[in-house]
Order: sequence, then C-alpha cells, then structure tokens
Amino acid sequence: MKIFLDTADLDEIRRAAEARLIDGVTTNPSLLAKSAGDREPVEVFMEISRLVDGPISAEVVATDTEGMVTEGEKLAALHENIVVKVPLTEAGLRACRTLSDREIRTNVTLCFSAVQALLAAKAGATYISPFVGRLDDVGHDGMEVLAEIRDLYDTYGYDTEILAASLRHPRHVLEAMKVGADVATLPPKVLYQLMHHPLTESGLATFLSDWEGLGRAL
Ligand code: G3P
Repeated sequence: MKIFLDTADLDEIRRAAEARLIDGVTTNPSLLAKSAGDREPVEVFMEISRLVDGPISAEVVATDTEGMVTEGEKLAALHENIVVKVPLTEAGLRACRTLSDREIRTNVTLCFSAVQALLAAKAGATYISPFVGRLDDVGHDGMEVLAEIRDLYDTYGYDTEILAASLRHPRHVLEAMKVGADVATLPPKVLYQLMHHPLTESGLATFLSDWEGLGRAL
C-alpha cells in the first residue's frame, strides 16, 4: 500500500520526503488555506513538486464543469506529477471524464458511498478518495464503505485506485491495509504515530543500558 501525506505544509512534506516515507501528497482547499501563508497556491504546488517525486493532488475550486476543466488543465500543466482533484458532483464527474480523455490524471474526492465510487470509475478517475473518518463522524462505518468499493472494483475490473482518505489514527491505516486500499493518505501526525510502539521504546532503552554495561565501542 502506498502512503501519501495529506497536507500542504511544506516543512512537513520536506521532512517526510527526505526520510523517503511517502509516495505522494494530497492537498485540499482547507489544507491550502491553513498552510499557504503568503504564497500563491500554484507556488505551493510547484514547491511540493520539487520536494516529492510522486503524485501530488491539487484540487479545483470551480463548481461548474467548464471551470473545473480550465483549472484542472492549468494545474496539470504545472508539473507532470500533478493529479487534478475534483469533487464527486455531476459537474465534477463530467470534468473527470473530460480531463481523463485528455490524459490528465484525476482524483475524485468527497466520496462517501460505493455507488458514488462506481460513477467515478466510469468517469475514468485515476483515484477515488473515500473519506473514512468523516463517515465515522456521522455514525456510519467508513471502513465498510472502503471494503464495498474494493469488492466492486475487483468484481467489475475497474483500475481506479482506492485512496483511503480522512484517516485519523493508526487503526484506520491498519484497517485500510486489510481491506486492500491502494493508497492511504495520512496527516503528518498519523504518519509519525505509525512508527511508535511502547515495546520498541522500552526494548531500545534496555539494549542501550546493557550495551553501556559492556563498556565497549562499536
Ligand atoms: O484530504 C481529504 C481528507 O483526508 C480530509 O480529512 O480529517 O479533514 O476529514 P479530514
């Protein structure tokens, strides 16, 4: 399973990219609003493209098909790694089909059901982004929707990749792996939570104190 970082924070992206922990980046308008500061959004996307050699999702903000296609073409022209993110609306699905026909990669976002994911696949989406945490927030089972999408895509042979989004904790990541998501996009906090385990920390402390007792150097 590939790991993308779900942020527009350049310091966080630099840190994870330098450690080679991530295969790509996803952003959305809210993440841009939080992290762009004085930079133009396109500058942020360009800078991310310099930091990460992998797919970088950049989202349109127009709500009509024509506007989405225009914005999408502009974003895709910034760098070959840019993937155009469009919302799962009728206009978004039409834009997805047009962009896909023009060989521009797409990520259909704000997906909350398997039947929505079916339409995105039929529109030629490169990625579908089901929002697991937001479904859990309203009392639904986000992971069950992810599993339904996996079954549906496997049954009918769609090659749209399932990008598990809105993952809030390591358990979500584990479940997304078990269900067979192609990609998990993680906020930085969750990425670093994955590497911690109390037994690793206590085990290392014991190794180091035993080694100190030996009184030698490597
Ligand atoms: O990028 C989309 C998604 O991952 C958002 O997550 O936590 O705002 O629901 P969240």
